[in-house]
Amino acid sequence: MTATHSSANGPVFTLLDKESGHEFELPLMHASIGPDVIDMRRLYAETGCFTYDPGYTSTGSCQSRLTYIDGEAGILRHRGYPIEELAADSDFMDVCHLLLYGELPTAAEKQAFEDDITHHTMLHEQFYYFFRGFRRDSHPMAIMCAAVGALSAFYHDTTDIHSPEHRRIAAHRLIAKVPTIAAVAYKYSMGQPFVYPRNDLGYAANFLYMMYSNPCEDYVVNPVLARALDRILILHADHEQNASTSTVRLAGSSGANPYACIAAGIASLWGPAHGGANEAVLKMLGEIGNRDRIPEFLDRAKDKDDPFRLMGFGHRVYRNHDPRARILRESCHEVLEELGVKDEPLLDLAMELERIALEDDYFIDKKLFPNVDFYSGIIYRAMGIPVAMFTAMFALGRTAGWVAQWKEMIEDPAMKIGRPRQLYLGEVERHFVPLEERG
Ligand code: CMC
Repeated sequence: MTATHSSANGPVFTLLDKESGHEFELPLMHASIGPDVIDMRRLYAETGCFTYDPGYTSTGSCQSRLTYIDGEAGILRHRGYPIEELAADSDFMDVCHLLLYGELPTAAEKQAFEDDITHHTMLHEQFYYFFRGFRRDSHPMAIMCAAVGALSAFYHDTTDIHSPEHRRIAAHRLIAKVPTIAAVAYKYSMGQPFVYPRNDLGYAANFLYMMYSNPCEDYVVNPVLARALDRILILHADHEQNASTSTVRLAGSSGANPYACIAAGIASLWGPAHGGANEAVLKMLGEIGNRDRIPEFLDRAKDKDDPFRLMGFGHRVYRNHDPRARILRESCHEVLEELGVKDEPLLDLAMELERIALEDDYFIDKKLFPNVDFYSGIIYRAMGIPVAMFTAMFALGRTAGWVAQWKEMIEDPAMKIGRPRQLYLGEVERHFVPLEERG
């Protein structure tokens, strides 16, 4: 492949087939910032070859205007706004509006948006019977996958993906109802009565209320914790084409309804290499137990014959630092201070593990740093959120990104059903052998 040059149709990459001497020109598409992409759409028609890129390490699957990441520099921006500014000065409703509609809302737009989200937080009353079918000890993510998918059985009135109004309402419903579903999943596992949402509370405060209040006593939401949770939701809101978001887009590309698509995203998020890592971090810290055992676990993480990995470390895109992890690390101290937690052994252990790992040649050479999941679990724990709920917390924030990405895809005239190809390595052709002749 040669470097770019200009043709009559703009900049192109040229592929040279050395055997035949044929040259193929592939158009280059310019990004507003970050790497340009080579437009491969005519590659097969012109060369008879597919590309091979398992894990999509070099493949752009769509055009998007939502989120920009520079992994080398540790930059994350939504619609151009740095995550540090959004986390410090905005709130989750602002960020949801920004992702869905491209702009931070005006005061009037924000009021209208928040009102609409607030008035969609309730679930259809019949929906509550659905939860009662689960085993008491069901993992909340199992309930989330099923319950979010089941929204499509209750809200048929918003499943026409070609209607902008259906898309708008479905997006708002999902952002509004996912916290209610998550809180109900938790209450069910605790054997406590389900708590209805309260319209006088903000988004994060309402979630804390639905989790922790009960009919027997007043529960007053701590505003510092509500603000900390709101910030966590902002930090998880979107992260361009990660596994769960790509799953949402692929599911949606066939025309599936948005509730089913977000359920698919939740399923993908559950894996320990993705959103399931926050739960795995806490389990790992518990297993390590004390500082003296850190070297033993680092050795295991480095051993190629041991499947163990340091959970909460490493990222496909970030090669310097994860900006979300830095913000969460600070938040962690604020939350513990607010709660009057002087000594949190797990935080001490996490910080020591981070310190030792960041000085270790293996982690330096492979550019492995703490990611967003490394500190989020410690904050959740301090807030009293059980470990099994951690990945569901990630899903609350990421629902904003999933619906915005889904909506952007449906509204993109270039949308096509997702249909990757493969490198076939199986048998070429065989003929059927009757059972009695098989040896
Ligand atoms: N501990 C030990 N070694 C690691 C780790 C780790 N956490 N992460 C990567 N490596 C090594 C890996 O063994 C490989 O070594 P080698 O080149 O010798 O084969 C090298 O680093 C590159 O790893 P990779 O698996 O090829 O990288 P990837 O981009 O495919 O995977 C990752 C990224 C996040 C899945 C991986 O770093 C990982 O499994 N981390 C632990 C799970 C985790 O914390 N996930 C949360 C990700 S951030 C939030 C989210 O997206 O949900």
